[in-house]
Amino acid sequence: MVPAVVKEVVFDQEAIAKRIGELAAEISHSYRDLRPVLVVILKGAFVFACDLIRQMKVELTLDFIAKSPYLASRGGEVKIIKDLEQDISGRHVLLLEDIVDTGLTLNYLVRVLSSREPASLAICSLLDRPALRLADIPLRYVGFNVTDEFLIGYGLDYRDRYRNLPYIATMKIEGA
Ligand code: IMP
Ligand code: MG
Repeated sequence: MVPAVVKEVVFDQEAIAKRIGELAAEISHSYRDLRPVLVVILKGAFVFACDLIRQMKVELTLDFIAKSPYLASRGGEVKIIKDLEQDISGRHVLLLEDIVDTGLTLNYLVRVLSSREPASLAICSLLDRPALRLADIPLRYVGFNVTDEFLIGYGLDYRDRYRNLPYIATMKIEGA
């Protein structure tokens, strides 16, 4: 059952699964023998990470980082509210994100994590919205490019809701 809030499904389960399989193969190949640390940016990237790591064929470890929620009204200001548990110095770190919009979130996280001297630091984002970019962020792996329409589902939220939708969709604006 599609909830009333969904306007249009942009990427269905099948399209997402297929693309994640391709990304997993590419990442597994590049990181073979490197024992990467995959850093999941909470909460949005957790669904993507679940599916991606189960398709990966290399030894890896997993860690989580959480930033304060996205609030346009705060001008993109970000704070770390849950930090990593592992020491990443000398490790090959791959950051997993749901969507890169202005790039300010990742700009901040990359700055913080780089100062801990990882052997390498790269980004994999399921979605890329280049039209609204403010900070120049190099994305090593991207699932799909998207337009400037707000998206929900597959980890992406609107006010912390709809993360559980199994597809990615545009939404009908609710009185705002
Ligand atoms: P940025 O700092 O502007 O690049 O924003 C990235 C963060 O904003 C992501 O981690 C998402 O949590 C959130 N975000 C950006 N666009 C959307 C969207 O269309 N739907 C849901 N969350 C979004
Ligand atoms: Mg979010």
